[in-house]
Amino acid sequence: NDQYAVIGNPIAHSKSPAIHGRFAAQSGQRMEYQRLLAPLDGFALCVSAFRAGGGKGVNVTVPFKLEAFALATRLTPRAQVAGAVNTLKFDDENILGDNTDGIGLVSDIVRNAGVSLENKRILLLGAGGAARGVLLPVLSERPSELVIANRTVSKAQQLVELATAHKQGEVLISACEWSQLSGKFDVIINATSASLSDEVPPISGDLFAAHTLAYDMMYGAQMTSFLRFAQSQGAVLRDGLGMLVEQAAEAFYLWRGVRPETAAVLADMRHALE
Ligand code: ATR
Repeated sequence: NDQYAVIGNPIAHSKSPAIHGRFAAQSGQRMEYQRLLAPLDGFALCVSAFRAGGGKGVNVTVPFKLEAFALATRLTPRAQVAGAVNTLKFDDENILGDNTDGIGLVSDIVRNAGVSLENKRILLLGAGGAARGVLLPVLSERPSELVIANRTVSKAQQLVELATAHKQGEVLISACEWSQLSGKFDVIINATSASLSDEVPPISGDLFAAHTLAYDMMYGAQMTSFLRFAQSQGAVLRDGLGMLVEQAAEAFYLWRGVRPETAAVLADMRHALE
């Protein structure tokens, strides 16, 4: 059987083996998928040992996505713009680096939540790795406007420059301070890590309309602080569990050329979380 793995530190909590195990069983792919704990200073060695043992590809998680980017000998455009890699695919000569996080987010919003991003006004909260990772896939959906807001405004401005260099069609792209945000947004995506400390970016509740999709890339047994705030404003809520499953599906497709069915897997992951 072909060998795959997820590499991170820590890694024990990773749900990727369960998700890929389900995809493999469902599609009849003969493969195995394990967790690998790499030492903090031993990512490249861990990858090369796994590859030397016949490994065909790996998913990469915290804190190694930048090292994976550096290790890749070829990069997909979305990985290039993301500046980070969450999926490596090995062949005889090359290590292909991809980033499936952004397309995972977009698939979860468009297909699973049934919300088109085309011609929509989108607010992206945060300007770290998670925010950068979704730029190209979000822009590919042809929104009318993308506003990026971040605690450190200069970082939002940098992402605006990057996004502007890769925009398609007539999309308005701007950076904004929390307090200067105005109007209603169709989709508000929380790509900050504020929820980890139970904090919420200090945005006005007036940015939410009843149809606004509030999306938190984080998820957990409890609703995140951002989603609780969005709920108090009457918005439509979605956490990042679907993004997790969809980014895995894209990695599976890259490796195996088969698109897994995600709905039942997502439902089971949700059940297991509760
Ligand atoms: P990740 O890979 O999760 O994006 P990161 O690159 O460290 O991690 O980025 C974290 C993001 O969350 C940043 O946008 C950060 O804002 P700054 O750029 O100003 O540091 C944002 N963030 C973290 N804690 C926050 C908080 N309590 N309130 C608002 N934004 C926060």
